[in-house]
Amino acid sequence: MKFKSLDPNGRRRVGVHARPALMALTTGAAAFAIAVGVGALSGIAPAHADDDDQEAQILIGFAIAPVPLNLAGKDRELVGLGSYIVNGVDHCNVCHSAGPGTEYAKGGNPYFKGNQPAVVNQATYLGGGRVFPQQVAGATPSIVSRNLTPDKTGLPEGGRTFAEFLAIMRTGVDLDHAHPNCADPTITASSTCFPANLPFNGDLLQIMPWPQLRHLTQHQLRAIYEYLRAVPCVAGPPSGLLHNDCS
Ligand code: HEC
Repeated sequence: MKFKSLDPNGRRRVGVHARPALMALTTGAAAFAIAVGVGALSGIAPAHADDDDQEAQILIGFAIAPVPLNLAGKDRELVGLGSYIVNGVDHCNVCHSAGPGTEYAKGGNPYFKGNQPAVVNQATYLGGGRVFPQQVAGATPSIVSRNLTPDKTGLPEGGRTFAEFLAIMRTGVDLDHAHPNCADPTITASSTCFPANLPFNGDLLQIMPWPQLRHLTQHQLRAIYEYLRAVPCVAGPPSGLLHNDCS
């Protein structure tokens, strides 16, 4: 008899137990009951599906990565899974490129007439710089997506550690303080800070979908981080928040 249990990373493992009576004593029993219940309800055989799924996701991830990947010193499975999430599920580049006008290479825009193949513009891939409309026109800072590519340190987002990345993704904290809350409560409109009379919390990333992305498993967030270590550095503008020293 087969059942699924969770390994410490939250990945599903397929296990084999022959004695149902003994299984009631193991944590696997709960997973077994759920797997059988769901399988019975949906009519889908529970065995193997998730392990196969993760392997398929890793393969698809490598197939759809739009840039050459530097795998040296990286965990290959995590990079593949990360690419699957970044390019196939959550589409980070739609916001973290410089904008819809340059997101795709010439002749490679799938939204254009003529059934063009989708060819991502490597020069802006995850380099940030897309400017979003102000939440309150004339009163709040304009929000600009950030450069997620690694710099010469080899770490993503211009040198962020995994602990920092995790904090950002789980809580939305803006470690760069790009647009803090205005210190002076009499300011009612500003292009650099969020005025006290408005509800927006300038300490948090705006527009960035962290309220949804924070629910990813630690393993999935680790995979995204590993993938972001493997993509090419985008230097961005000569200075400022979006700039990366690539070498
Ligand atoms: C809907 C647009 C959108 C999507 C989709 C999106 N982001 Fe963002 N992200 C932003 C914006 C905008 C900012 C900057 C927000 C600000 O300045 O308040 C940001 C900021 C970030 C930061 C903070 C960077 C730093 O230097 O501190 C990280 C990390 C990040 N995004 C990762 C991701 C990842 C990974 C994905 C895909 C899984 C993703 N984002 C998808 C819009 C988006």
